[in-house]
Formats: sequence, structure tokens, C-alpha cells
Amino acid sequence: MTVTKATYPPIEDRYISLLWAEIEAAEELATLHAQIFDPAWDENAFRDLLAEPETSALVAKVRLRELGPPVPVGFAIGRIAADEAEVLTIGVSEPFQQRGIGAKLAGGLLRAIGSAGAKRLFLEVAEDNVAAISLYSGLGFTEVGRRQGYYKRRDGSAVDALTLALDLASRS
Ligand SMILES: CC(C)(COP(=O)(O)OP(=O)(O)OC[C@H]1O[C@@H](n2cnc3c(N)ncnc32)[C@H](O)[C@@H]1OP(=O)(O)O)[C@@H](O)C(=O)NCCC(=O)NCCS
Repeated sequence: MTVTKATYPPIEDRYISLLWAEIEAAEELATLHAQIFDPAWDENAFRDLLAEPETSALVAKVRLRELGPPVPVGFAIGRIAADEAEVLTIGVSEPFQQRGIGAKLAGGLLRAIGSAGAKRLFLEVAEDNVAAISLYSGLGFTEVGRRQGYYKRRDGSAVDALTLALDLASRS
């Protein structure tokens, strides 16, 4: 069955949990990543990433009914280097988008990275990614750079990457 947004009613906060993702979550994250991104990162890539002490990874899980099992629906992964950090990837599977889960994940990652000592957080986003840019600007990210034609699309077109930054020091 194809699951569409219309299949689910709005999700109450009590059904959503954010959990730290450790190396054991590599397979789960690779499966989820493949539902959201093309090209996808494989399990080994997640294993390597999650093994690094500089990596912070959160997974969002949703219970679809009161006593149902939590289902992984999104993730946010960042990496810290000295007092700077970057968001490596953030995604929510399509049927669960636009329900506040991306904002919860991004907020959780920001807090984790900020409390680990990072002062500035960077990320890159395709300039036509309306959903992600809306999420990031709502969090206070501002554009600090642009890479022309950075993302190559399967149809042969190229899209600029915007580099966005957020000053974490001024948030505390
Ligand atoms: C970007 C992404 C993570 C957002 O997750 P989400 O759970 O849908 O986001 P939320 O519901 O928390 O919404 C966060 C904000 O973005 C806005 N937004 C989300 N999707 C949007 C869309 N398609 N169009 C316009 N705004 C959108 C929301 O309205 C909200 O803004 P608000 O706080 O002003 O109301 C999700 O769209 C996604 O996984 N996209 C595919 C992967 C991707 O592009 N990742 C980012 C790579 S840089």
C-alpha cells in the first residue's frame, strides 16, 4: 500500500519521541535515508559516521496508535569540529512531513551541538529546497555563501547550494 499524507491524522506530541541514534541504528537509518534521499547513504556509511565521537545523531520515532511500536520516521545528524559544527543530513519520510517533526529534530540537534560547545552551525541546502529553507530560516539560519551548480540532478541540471549559518552562542 502506498502511504500518503492523507492516510494519517495530525500527530500528537505524545506519540513522537526523539532518541539518540547509536551505531546499532545504522541499518534503520540507511533504510530511512533511502526513502528520503537519492542517492542514499548505505548502512556502512552510517556505521562509519555513527562511530565518530564528533557525530551527534537523533532519530524521530512515531507511534501510530496508543500501544503500537515506535516507527522511525526521521533523523538529524550533525558533526562538531572544535567550536564549529555542521548539519550533515536531516530528513523526514514523506508521509510524516509538515507535521513539525523536522523542526523537533533540528531543534534537538541544535541543543545537542550547542551544549557540546559549538558556537556556530553551518549547513548546505539546494536553493530550490523550499521546505528545508523554510525550516532553517525559522530557526534563525542566514545565508553566508553560495556554491554555483553544486548539486547535480539526474536530469543533468545543476542547482546552487546555499551555505547557511546559525550563531549558537547568541542563542544561549
Ligand atoms: C526539510 C524537511 C526535513 C522538513 O521536515 P518537516 O517535518 O516537513 O518540517 P516541519 O513540519 O517541522 O516544518 C518546519 C517548517 O518548514 C515549513 N515547511 C515544511 N515543509 C514545507 C514545504 N513543503 N513548503 C513550505 N514550507 C514547508 C513548515 O511550514 C514549518 O514552518 P513554520 O514553522 O513557519 O510553520 C523535510 O521536508 C524533508 O525531509 N525533506 C526531504 C529531505 C531534505 O530536503 N532535507 C534537507 C536537506 S538540506
